[in-house]
This record gives sequence, C-alpha cells and structure tokens, in this order.
Amino acid sequence: MNGDSPIEHEGERLQKVLARGGIGSRRTCEDLIAAGRVTVNGEVAVLGRRVDVDHDEVALDGTVVSVNPTFVYRLLNKPAGVVTTAADTHGRPIVTELVPGDPLVHPVGRLDMETEGLLLLTNDGTLTHRLTHPSFGVPKEYLAEVQGSPSRSALRTLREGVELDDGRTAPAKVALRSENLLRITIHEGRNRQVRRMCEAVGHPVVRLVRTRIGTLRDPELSPGEWRDLTLDELRALEREASGATGTGKGRAGR
Ligand code: URA
Repeated sequence: MNGDSPIEHEGERLQKVLARGGIGSRRTCEDLIAAGRVTVNGEVAVLGRRVDVDHDEVALDGTVVSVNPTFVYRLLNKPAGVVTTAADTHGRPIVTELVPGDPLVHPVGRLDMETEGLLLLTNDGTLTHRLTHPSFGVPKEYLAEVQGSPSRSALRTLREGVELDDGRTAPAKVALRSENLLRITIHEGRNRQVRRMCEAVGHPVVRLVRTRIGTLRDPELSPGEWRDLTLDELRALEREASGATGTGKGRAGR
C-alpha cells in the first residue's frame, strides 16, 4: 500500500456506487444522499462520502442495497435428484454444477434432494443471511402434492402450527388447490419443514415444488434452467429481506 492515494484507500464516491447499483442517475443519488436517506454502516451519509464496496454496508431508506459489482444472483429452477450444496463428497449431482462456476456462488438456504423449484445462488453473504434467517420473515411458497385429501381440520392445524420434534411451527398460509394439492407459505426454514408438517397431519408429500421466494417468482423457468435476477427483482428482494414489505416493519420508501 502507498499512503499517497486517498481515493484508493477510501473507496469510491457513494453516488457513483449507488448509480451503478441501479438506484438512479448520479444526480438522483446525490439528492438521496443530501436528503439523508442513505446510510453507510448505519450512519447517515453526507455528500462526498466514499465507500469500500467490499466492506461497507450501504442502505437506502433503511433497506440494505447490494452495491458490490462482483456480486451475482442466479435464480435456478432446481430439478429433483440434485443436492443443494456447493460440494458433495458422495459424487451426487449438485446445484452449483447447474450454474456458471465463476464467480463461485453458494445456494441460499436449501431444498431437499427430491424438492424442485426456485433456488437462489449468490456470492452475497449479507443477502443470504437476510433471506435465510427467520427473523427477517421472508416467505417461501411451495406447492405440495400429498397423499390423500386433507380435511378442514388438517388444514387448520397446518395453518395454526404443527407440533414437530423440534417445536411447533409458526402460523402458515395454506390453501387447498385441488383434492391433493396444497399451496403452503412458510416464513421459517427448518429442515424438511413442509414434508414434516404434511406428514404430521397424515398426508405425506408426494411431490414438492418451491414456487416463490419473497417477491421472486418465475413460472417460465424450466427445471435445470437458471437466469440472473434483474436489478428490479434484486431491489424488491432486498426490500423484502429488510422486513419492509408486507410485514408492517421498516419502510419501503422507494
Ligand atoms: N420443506 C421441505 O420439506 N423440503 C424442502 O426442500 C423445502 C421446504
């Protein structure tokens, strides 16, 4: 390191970083900073602030926004028979083989080997934490084909909470789509949760597909296909993962 280059040491200008992140033009971003709507590491930023995108946490209206251009966000439609891990010692097919290997990404949460559907893979650790930690309450929606046809009382139990060996499940949204097809939305991410919930009410899962992660859906994506998130999708997901959408916590602001 040499001590002559404060720019290198102190990072890039905040408005440039925000504009590159798709928040708005540089001018708009300057206005947002001047209005006190942008924080860096929890402190209101002033014009002229520089940031290190590798280490500083930037937020707009309380929502952490990813401003690191090296971060990627791949949305995969995971097929059955693939393990949700970045490396498998048993030589089984793994989800990271279905997306480009550079940069290295990790799955956000996990789907069981036989579960299909949407899985996000990224190298953004902050968003990963926010999407998987139950305290942020990001909803995940599943379609579960089950054995038999759940009664009203079974549906009520699924909605109100099921006693599992690791404790009672939090309230869930549950709708009967057809005789043996349930749409279940949960905010927790316990191991094999949907399968164990359905089993506990006497209707083991035959097929399980995740159809939504927070604001993210994509009915057009075929099993085994992936695509990058759009900036709009990323921003919406970040808002949701800050607790700002639909939960009454925080502020959306944008
Ligand atoms: N619940 C399950 O039971 N399995 C999954 O893969 C995801 C949620």
